[in-house]
Amino acid sequence: MVLDELVSNISIDELLLHDGLHADHPEIWLCVNGKVFDVTRGRSFYGPGGGYAAFAGRDATRALAKMDTGAATRTYAVVSDLTEEEINTAKHWEATFAGKYQFVGTLAPQAN
Ligand code: HEM
Repeated sequence: MVLDELVSNISIDELLLHDGLHADHPEIWLCVNGKVFDVTRGRSFYGPGGGYAAFAGRDATRALAKMDTGAATRTYAVVSDLTEEEINTAKHWEATFAGKYQFVGTLAPQAN
């Protein structure tokens, strides 16, 4: 899919479909700090069997903040207990992704 406009309010379910396992959604997306990036060209990392496949189609904020692939879940990342250092780590990763990958849009805010 060629994105000709940025998508806002991407739902968590839409994000989950972009995990590299759904043939009808070939792009792989990853979310950090509410920003969704198209990491398809990093398929060797994020595709099935890749070392960072746990981030594919996920809100990886907590996992990246804690440098723990096991902390990537299928739900909104819990960030309320992150330390300042962890928050900065996640910001650093966001900048890395912004420099390397296409920004797709923003994850819809979590309904309370
Ligand atoms: C023994 C532990 C680890 C080693 C040896 C390692 C090694 C590497 C290497 C060599 C790269 C660069 C790959 C390239 O650009 O060709 C990389 C990228 C990366 N690593 Fe790790 N890593 C480790 C642990 C982790 C952990 C725990 C996380 C996060 C939970 C992590 C997240 C990432 C991410 C997000 C990238 C960027 C991939 C991209 O460019 O899209 N790494 N790692």
